[in-house]
Formats: sequence, structure tokens, C-alpha cells
Amino acid sequence: MTKIIDLRSDTVTQPSDQMRDAISNSLLGDDVFGEDPTVNEIEQKAAQIMGKESALLVPSGTMGNLVSILSHCERGTEIILGHKSHTFVYEGGGISSVGGIHSRQLLNDDIGIIDLDDIKYAVRDDNVHYPKTSAISLENTHNMCFGSPIEPNYIKSVSVIAKENNLKLHVDGARIFNAAVSLNIDVKDLVKNVDSVTFCLSKGLAAPIGSVVCGTKKFIDKARRHRKVLGGGMRQAGIIAAAGLISLDDCTIQIKKDHNNAKILAEGLNKIKGLSVQLNHIQTNIIFFKLESNKITDQSFVKSMNSKGIKFFETSPNRFRLVTHYGITKKDIYKTLIEFDKCLN
Ligand SMILES: Cc1ncc(COP(=O)(O)O)c(C=O)c1O
Repeated sequence: MTKIIDLRSDTVTQPSDQMRDAISNSLLGDDVFGEDPTVNEIEQKAAQIMGKESALLVPSGTMGNLVSILSHCERGTEIILGHKSHTFVYEGGGISSVGGIHSRQLLNDDIGIIDLDDIKYAVRDDNVHYPKTSAISLENTHNMCFGSPIEPNYIKSVSVIAKENNLKLHVDGARIFNAAVSLNIDVKDLVKNVDSVTFCLSKGLAAPIGSVVCGTKKFIDKARRHRKVLGGGMRQAGIIAAAGLISLDDCTIQIKKDHNNAKILAEGLNKIKGLSVQLNHIQTNIIFFKLESNKITDQSFVKSMNSKGIKFFETSPNRFRLVTHYGITKKDIYKTLIEFDKCLN
């Protein structure tokens, strides 16, 4: 059977044999009672890796961001975030429908940055006409902005604005390890100035399920209550944590491979007549490219590649996304390039 080369997202990974073994051998208990030893282990380990007091396992990145924001912001207050952020665009508007939290969207530039002055001016004055500003949320890496890693100096500057205005700073770090690898720094140093971070086990870290929220003990206690209310209190959740522990052990090795594959893929795409990639933007495992050829429509291009077993998305008109991950080999990258070339030339 021909292998499907699935470049739609790094969420499509299959667990390794080592993860499957760890799942079947995991020690389990009732995590709502705090009695699952494997969950307790991953929460302690995650907190230590992120340099935070405490951590909480949640089923998804979406729930991680939601419980974090619910814990930081009161109903009717406002959170500042980017207009291309995952929380604003792709999380079902949960912060507003569930939390009654107003979003103040500021422009993300091409690489996910929000202008610091825009952030400063967006903080509301104390005036009965305005909602109170309660928090700022950043995304690292920035999914829709070329998977760009956000630099620690920038995060520090945002944290200064947050502190000066008594606001909490959250980071959606679904792919924070990709950012740390790309910037060649310890992940702790990327989050040392933020109040909370959510990271996903089920993306670049290749585990089948789960995300972890990290912050102070007081914040995590609050987030735990919100998780329960949202139906995310899981019982023998050690089966999730067991796979996550494997990914935390050696994640940087795979992430380096994914970034290298993305680079080869991006450089190769740029050499194909009819395609263009902004190579300087490709820093992690996410590639966006454009179709320059008018021989074929966007839809038939995607369809034709699909029929060759190569899957990817068009995220907006003439903007296609490819994501490398565990399970995608160099051979798959070369095959993808050959098929793209055959389709267009
Ligand atoms: C940047 C970012 N944040 C959050 C999420 C949500 O994660 P989940 O799909 O686990 O809810 C995603 C998912 O792709 C993401 O890319």
C-alpha cells in the first residue's frame, strides 16, 4: 500500500511503539482524586521543565488556553491577543461564550509579532465606558504566521507592559518546544517572564492526546476547578500521561529532524516553477507557500496532490500550509517535491 504523506498538521502523528508500551504498562489511579501516579509524574516534570511551581494535564490545547484565560480574567474583562492567534480564530470563541471575556484583537505582523505600542495603547483607562483589561495572550510558535518562533526579548518587553498595568500574561505554547529548538535556548528561558503557558503533547511532541498548563500553584488550583467544570476532569488519565512522558524525554531530537525536513521541503518548493515560498520565514516545522502558476486552480491543485497520497490544506485563498512531524521522513519530502513538480510542470 502506498504511504499517505500527511502534511496537514503535526496533530496527525501516530504514537511510537515505545509510547504504546508505556501506555499499556502505565500505573493508573483516579486523577480527579489526585491519585494517578503517572499524571502526577507528568505534571511535576512539566512544571520543572517550564520552571513553574505547578502544572495541570488537560485533554487539549484548546482547553488549556481556555482554563488559563478563565483563571486569569473575570467575566466582562478584556484580553489582548493577536488577530491571527489560534485562541481568537480557532477555539470556537470559547473565552467569550464560556467565560464572558471580551477579546481585543491587535494586528499580528507576518511573523506573529504585535507592535509593542499597539499593546500599550490597547490597555484601557479606568473609565466606566470601557471593559477592564485583565490579560495579554501571545502565541509561540505562531501557527498562522509561518510557525515563527517568538524571541525572549520581545516576550520580556510584553511582560513589562503587563506588569506595569497589573495584567496577566499567558502564552499559547502549543509548539513552544519548536520555538526553543529554533531559537536554541532552554524552554524555561522562553517562559520565565510569563504567568502561564499551555503546551501540547499531541503536536511536535507526537503523543496521541493531551496538553499541559503551567504556572503558579494558586493559578493551577484555579485552572483545575475550571477543568472540572468544563468536563475535563479525567479519571485514569495516566494512559495519556504515559505517552506524554516519553515525548518529553527526547523531544528535541525529533523536532530538529522536523525543522530540517521543513527547510529541505521549503527550499525544494521554491525551486519548482509555479510555486513560491518566503524562505526567510521558515524557521520551524510549518511552511506556507503560494501557487504562482495559472495552469491549475487552487482546488484542483490540492485535489490532484491528494490523489497522489499527499495531503495538505489551503488555509486561505492561495495560501497553502505544510507541516512536518514525526512519521514524515526525508524520503517523503523528496517524493512530495517530485509530485508537486510533476503536477505543475
Ligand atoms: C497554536 C495552537 N494553539 C492551540 C491549539 C489547540 O490545540 P488542540 O487541537 O489540542 O485543541 C492549536 C492546534 O492546532 C494550535 O495550533
